[in-house]
Amino acid sequence: LAALVAHPAAGPLVLAALRRHGRDAGLAPHELPAAVVLAADPPSVADGTLTTSGKIARAALVARHGARLEASVSAPTGAADLSTAPTGEADPSTAPNGGTDLSLRATDMAGLSTGSTDLPDLASGPDGGLAARLARVASSLLGRAVTADEPLVDALDSLGAAALLAALTEELGRPLPLPAWFASRSLTELAGRLRPAGSAPSGSALVDEAARELARPVALGPLTPLARPLRTVLLTGATGFLGAHLLEELLASTGLRVVCLVRGASDGAARERLARACLDLGIERVGAALAEPSGRAPGAALADRVTVVAGDLAAPRLGLDEASCDELAASVDAVLHAGAVVSWLAPYAALRGANVDGTRTLLALCARRATPLHLVSTISTVPADGDEDTRLSLTAAASSPYALSKWLSEELARQAAARGLPLAIYRPAMIAPHSVRGTSNRLDFIHRYLVGSSALGCHLDLGARLDMTPVDFVARAIVALLTASPGGGPATHLVNVAQSMTYAELGRAMVAAQL
Ligand SMILES: NC(=O)c1ccc[n+]([C@@H]2O[C@H](COP(=O)([O-])OP(=O)(O)OC[C@H]3O[C@@H](n4cnc5c(N)ncnc54)[C@H](OP(=O)(O)O)[C@@H]3O)[C@@H](O)[C@H]2O)c1
Repeated sequence: LAALVAHPAAGPLVLAALRRHGRDAGLAPHELPAAVVLAADPPSVADGTLTTSGKIARAALVARHGARLEASVSAPTGAADLSTAPTGEADPSTAPNGGTDLSLRATDMAGLSTGSTDLPDLASGPDGGLAARLARVASSLLGRAVTADEPLVDALDSLGAAALLAALTEELGRPLPLPAWFASRSLTELAGRLRPAGSAPSGSALVDEAARELARPVALGPLTPLARPLRTVLLTGATGFLGAHLLEELLASTGLRVVCLVRGASDGAARERLARACLDLGIERVGAALAEPSGRAPGAALADRVTVVAGDLAAPRLGLDEASCDELAASVDAVLHAGAVVSWLAPYAALRGANVDGTRTLLALCARRATPLHLVSTISTVPADGDEDTRLSLTAAASSPYALSKWLSEELARQAAARGLPLAIYRPAMIAPHSVRGTSNRLDFIHRYLVGSSALGCHLDLGARLDMTPVDFVARAIVALLTASPGGGPATHLVNVAQSMTYAELGRAMVAAQL
């Protein structure tokens, strides 16, 4: 075994087999192993690499083999394949030379910036060969011939996309405008959107689309303000991280009834989804009460205050039939709109339905009885040095599809407010885990950054500040503002700059806490 393990072909063969099995099992490219270390002696309790209960003692194993593993990851023959290239990676067991050389398929990050000069000129066109240049860089990165017209973005996962973006930026010697990147499905389209240095600014597709959106007036009938007490609130986004905590807070600190608009095949299915979301976030009392059939102790009183309506922000009339929509409009005294597709990577087309059309539909619903809209927006709609009265310009907002969708949602609400609809806007910065429960939004950036940092044992050493506010603080603030001024008010920023940490401080705190 010792001789086999020491053979130079053994490592690459095992690695290729593991990667092949991983790919067959549907793992994403970044989940495939990048290197292996073969050892003849298995982990044992005697040498401390196994615990007495037979589990792997990770720290001892890393101490023993870590350096070799690191070396093989960084070696140029390491198979760090970022691509989802259909041709895949060479299988050394079937390669003509016995297949121990993986270097041809390796991604050599050092060579990315130059692009491979011996690749064929894959495209040329009205952009003066720019598409061909970008295709050469992509080919070099992905280890296969990439054509400028193929729908490349679909073929990349987020890591691959980030690597390609970095390589193209380096090739061009200047930052690649993200709106152009997000709006392009192929490198030909991207090249068409890139403005040669010194030429006149070209219109961005996103800006044009947003301008068209703003030109479509919000459908409002005549507004007749009705003074009425606040008894029932329509809450959107209740299955989400903030929304579930808003529901908890509304039930705990007010006597209000809450109607939750939740996606689901039926009202019952939507109620089950909401119960599960609350339980997953540790909001036990609310989750358990919703899961109980109505009328049964102990959560009956709580559950009776919650009505769950199956609906979709992106659908006409919220996906309700006309009668249900009329009933909803007639029964609520305020709308707390926290629902949105929250993604910094999604293209505008994936955000528009929930984030822009959804606000439009809710504004029309509110307008029927001049029902106040309490809109959860984001701090990303204002400039970094702005205040509650400042707004990004359309062009600045269009630097990200997500920020643009929230900015448009605000703009449409302002149009309605200018015509008399009561409005309040809340703009949180990053919403952080619960201050007591520690529960977090497992899909969001903060959670992934902290978990990733801890797993990798490294952090970003940056002076940039992470402006984070615990979700329970944000929910409490919004509910307090809503109940204090149900008829709306000025925009409010829910930020935590003074107590926030920089990436570097957060990293040091994690190291100190041995996380
Ligand atoms: N997270 C932050 O750091 C942050 C910062 C500033 C502002 N905000 C704002 O705060 C609000 C809540 O964010 P979050 O982090 O709690 O987001 P989240 O966890 O992703 O929740 C989003 C919610 O919106 C719902 N939703 C999405 N599309 C919908 C549709 N078409 N119809 C009905 N419901 C839909 C989701 O329902 P499903 O369960 O059906 O998907 C979910 O309940 C958003 O308006 C966001 O822009 C968030």
